[in-house]
Amino acid sequence: MTLHETAHPAHAPGIDSTWTFETTARSLTGRRPVAGGVIDAIGDTPLIELSRFGAARGARARILGKAEFSNPLGSVKDRIVWGIIRAAEESGQLRPGALIVDITSGNTGIALAAIAAGRGYRTKFYLGDNTSPDKRLLLEAIGAEIVPVPNSLFLDPEALDLLFLRAQEENPGAFIADQLNNPANPATHYATTGPEIWRDTSGGVDVLVAGVGTGGTSAGAGRFLKEQKPALRLVVAEPGDASVPSEEVLYPEEIDGVHKVVDVEPEQLPGNYAPELVDEVIGVEASEAYAAAREVLHEEGLLVGPSSGANLEAAARLAQRPEHEGTTIVVILADTGERYLSAGVFGPRPAGDSGPGVPDGAGGSGPERR
Ligand SMILES: Cc1ncc(COP(=O)(O)O)c(C=O)c1O
Repeated sequence: MTLHETAHPAHAPGIDSTWTFETTARSLTGRRPVAGGVIDAIGDTPLIELSRFGAARGARARILGKAEFSNPLGSVKDRIVWGIIRAAEESGQLRPGALIVDITSGNTGIALAAIAAGRGYRTKFYLGDNTSPDKRLLLEAIGAEIVPVPNSLFLDPEALDLLFLRAQEENPGAFIADQLNNPANPATHYATTGPEIWRDTSGGVDVLVAGVGTGGTSAGAGRFLKEQKPALRLVVAEPGDASVPSEEVLYPEEIDGVHKVVDVEPEQLPGNYAPELVDEVIGVEASEAYAAAREVLHEEGLLVGPSSGANLEAAARLAQRPEHEGTTIVVILADTGERYLSAGVFGPRPAGDSGPGVPDGAGGSGPERR
């Protein structure tokens, strides 16, 4: 079974001058036949025209959002979770009732916990204590075990390797999903996300903008699209210097789920990141990413998270350049903004919410993020 073995007709056309009830109903039913279960509902996400956002930014290019937030568990990670589980089941690494462990900034954990639970596996995640409270609550609601990890740990370039070893030692016999290095991650994007963008733009995509958490989206979808169109430009939006933890500021305003790829130690780059495919890296501060997320909410009615905001900000800058006149820029909208309401992305945090931090009793101090 693959993600979406069935070829779906064009997506719903939207309400415009050619709208009729019949065409809309037909394309809606064509796009979403009854799914056999949650796995069948993963992928085949719509591409959404962001014309109002583009116009507000003086775009010379067309900007399209790849709506990964419409995956059943709300993020692009649904795809790789199914890819990783399927590969591990097929290779015999994952046996009935097994414990699945990973290091995650939230979305992979949420998708893994939900999809694994439906298949009879247990889950345990090592989660940075800067993760948005909403994500932590969701993980708890689904029933995953959480091991909080202080943000300060990640100042050490070897932190990820050390954490991986610790996860192995503490969980003998468990299946470590290892989204940072597992080849099933980019392979899933190569097989699904890239082809979907190619199909839905009829080969018209010129630029792909993505962030790098594990590198899977940019490496997999980017590789597929560049194979179809070598002139395609792959652009990475990375957090600016003020938006990553430092010795001075351990909990800055951050762009959840994505990391710097320039001026970092090679050990800090995930194994799945493919720098040779990347044409340009654009730095975006968290405040700019949050502002772009708010802008696309108000201009387009789309509720997306801060990494999508960073991609949108980068796309807006690209779209203003004369060389991009008349081109098509596809932006990955990685997850839903509902996961960041209590992180203050869309307005002040609710009263009494102390922000991200280690939950009481978990051995930390629950530091403020800003
Ligand atoms: C919110 C969010 N955006 C973007 C990404 C980056 O995707 P990838 O891991 O494919 O590089 C992630 C991954 O962790 C994420 O959680």
